[in-house]
Amino acid sequence: MKIITVNVNKGGAGKTTLAFNLAEYLKTNHRVLLLDFDDSTNLTNRYGHYTNLNNTVVNLFENGDVSPIKLADNFDLIAGHSSVEQLKERLNSRRRREYIFGKWLALNEEELSEKYDYIVIDTENDEGILTQNALIVSDLVLGVAEASKDSFLALVALKKFVQELNDDFNSEAKLALIANKINLSENASKDLLAELQGYPEYLGYLPRRTKIADDKAVFSTTDEVLKEQLRAIFEKVIEVV
Ligand SMILES: Nc1ncnc2c1ncn2[C@@H]1O[C@H](COP(=O)(O)OP(=O)(O)OP(=O)(O)O)[C@@H](O)[C@H]1O
Ligand SMILES: [Mg+2]
Repeated sequence: MKIITVNVNKGGAGKTTLAFNLAEYLKTNHRVLLLDFDDSTNLTNRYGHYTNLNNTVVNLFENGDVSPIKLADNFDLIAGHSSVEQLKERLNSRRRREYIFGKWLALNEEELSEKYDYIVIDTENDEGILTQNALIVSDLVLGVAEASKDSFLALVALKKFVQELNDDFNSEAKLALIANKINLSENASKDLLAELQGYPEYLGYLPRRTKIADDKAVFSTTDEVLKEQLRAIFEKVIEVV
């Protein structure tokens, strides 16, 4: 079982879009558990409206007990919740608060690894406590940037953050970088790709397309060219994780 977390401390770069499409791709061949660590619940909303705290990350963090929502035979969701912001405040007074998710994984390791091949986590644009919980147990952290200097700098900051966490918590998260919303006829996109070429962690880019912006998964559309483009990147993700 491999754990992949999508994060970057920059709003709107494409974390949720990437986590969603990656999970939708992985589930075509694998068993996947998807988690939404963001209080915006953007990812959760793509699958429905879940308000029972038993199905959410709030209960997972608060009392280590959670019932994943079955979306398909091989596909479960632990939903996000609008009260995650308050949850983070409550966790501030807990000891060993960076290890809460890791502890839940360890306690349920046997069952989880029997049930799932991949755990995919969508996070907020922050370096907060839930994000730290996810990063220190991840096999792979996926950073994503759109074509702007700020977005690129957020990837550079993510690389440093992952290195620091690996040092501080004795963890071994690998990093991979993906560019998003790329339009090759625009200079900002070309500049971002040129910068990223210098990074061994760089895997490739997703083009800017309304079909990706739609809440529908690319793999449920009939756009074979776009599907092939995403498939190529996601196969690289599978290779490096
Ligand atoms: N490749 C793409 N082409 C076109 N639109 C995109 C693409 N990727 C993402 N978007 C759009 O950009 C917006 C931001 O994407 P998304 O919500 O995935 O970012 P995020 O990093 O999760 O944001 P937040 O920090 O708020 O959680 C959304 O409206 C999404 O539909
Ligand atoms: Mg998001």
